[in-house]
Amino acid sequence: MSQVGAGKTVLVVGGAGYIGSHMVKSLLAHGYDTVTFDNLSNGHRDAVLGGHFVHGDLADRELLEDIFEEFDFDGVLHFAGSIQVGESVRDPQVYYDNNLANTLNLLRAVRRGGNPKLIFSSSAAVYGEPRQAIIDERHPCAPLSPYGRSKLMVEQIARDFAQAYGLRVFSLRYFNAAGADPDGDLGERHAPETHLIPLALRAAFAREPCEIFGNDYSTPDGTCVRDYIHVADLCEAHRLALEYLPRAGGFHVLNLGNGAGYSVREVLSAIEWVTGKTVPINLGPRRAGDPARLVADAKRARAMLGWRPRYGAIETIVAHAAAFEQRRHQHRRAAG
Ligand code: UFG
Repeated sequence: MSQVGAGKTVLVVGGAGYIGSHMVKSLLAHGYDTVTFDNLSNGHRDAVLGGHFVHGDLADRELLEDIFEEFDFDGVLHFAGSIQVGESVRDPQVYYDNNLANTLNLLRAVRRGGNPKLIFSSSAAVYGEPRQAIIDERHPCAPLSPYGRSKLMVEQIARDFAQAYGLRVFSLRYFNAAGADPDGDLGERHAPETHLIPLALRAAFAREPCEIFGNDYSTPDGTCVRDYIHVADLCEAHRLALEYLPRAGGFHVLNLGNGAGYSVREVLSAIEWVTGKTVPINLGPRRAGDPARLVADAKRARAMLGWRPRYGAIETIVAHAAAFEQRRHQHRRAAG
């Protein structure tokens, strides 16, 4: 493994969560020193496989200042945030507190830290209802939920900070993050879990049905189409962005996806093929706020960063997630 990060220290906010924990592992493998900052509201301490760990909340400005005082960061990656679209509609305060106000605290600290480089986890949710089949970064942003709006607001603030204070920022708009660590050390452990792949895997292993949210969309089989991107490929894009930032001034937005769409039914078929088990399903109504189709044009990330996703096949994404979920299922059964 290359040691491009030797001598460099990176702050990973939300590094105990799903994507953040994979990121910490990848950074350590590339020679970086890491400081994980997490309030453990959704993350898991045992998912942080090395480096320093600070148990803290972004609402605590004093603690943030202390950390920036203690360490000289070469970059900051911000994964912490609330991620459920439906919940954000019911309880927007949480989303504007966590995703907007707390991120403003972080931006303030990054700005004062002296080496202002930030990689922000944004989302395809900033686009809203797609106007075309494949979405590039020039697609208008009209988010449909407080979740999407909170991400877009941070992007707008970060752009202003880049212009006024010289911050160097990549805002990475994820499509559907999925899969698990190819070595099997880490995976998706949200509570509650709302994402299709882990829920459908649990349904296959536990023989309890999962629900398909709507089969009357204007897609080939009537179910929603999404662009699933392997968590390891997402992390690789972050690492490349981190290495690019010293050369790049200003604020940059990049889509991260494979550019290939799979319907809910196609994902379930891939799960059945990979696990050899049937996924029991119930057909349910549409879930509010779900666009029919969200597929990325991620050519800009490829051109700018030289990023090449390695695990684009849906079967590979599902196989890695299945290996992790099967172990959890066995543990749950052993625990009774
Ligand atoms: N789905 C089901 N049944 C389930 C869960 C999901 O049919 O039990 C369907 C959804 O309706 C959707 C697809 O499976 O069509 C994928 O749903 P996920 O919940 O896995 O992911 P989303 O596309 O809703 O959301 C993800 C991220 C969001 C982000 C969004 C942007 O979780 O944070 O992608 O594209 F905003």
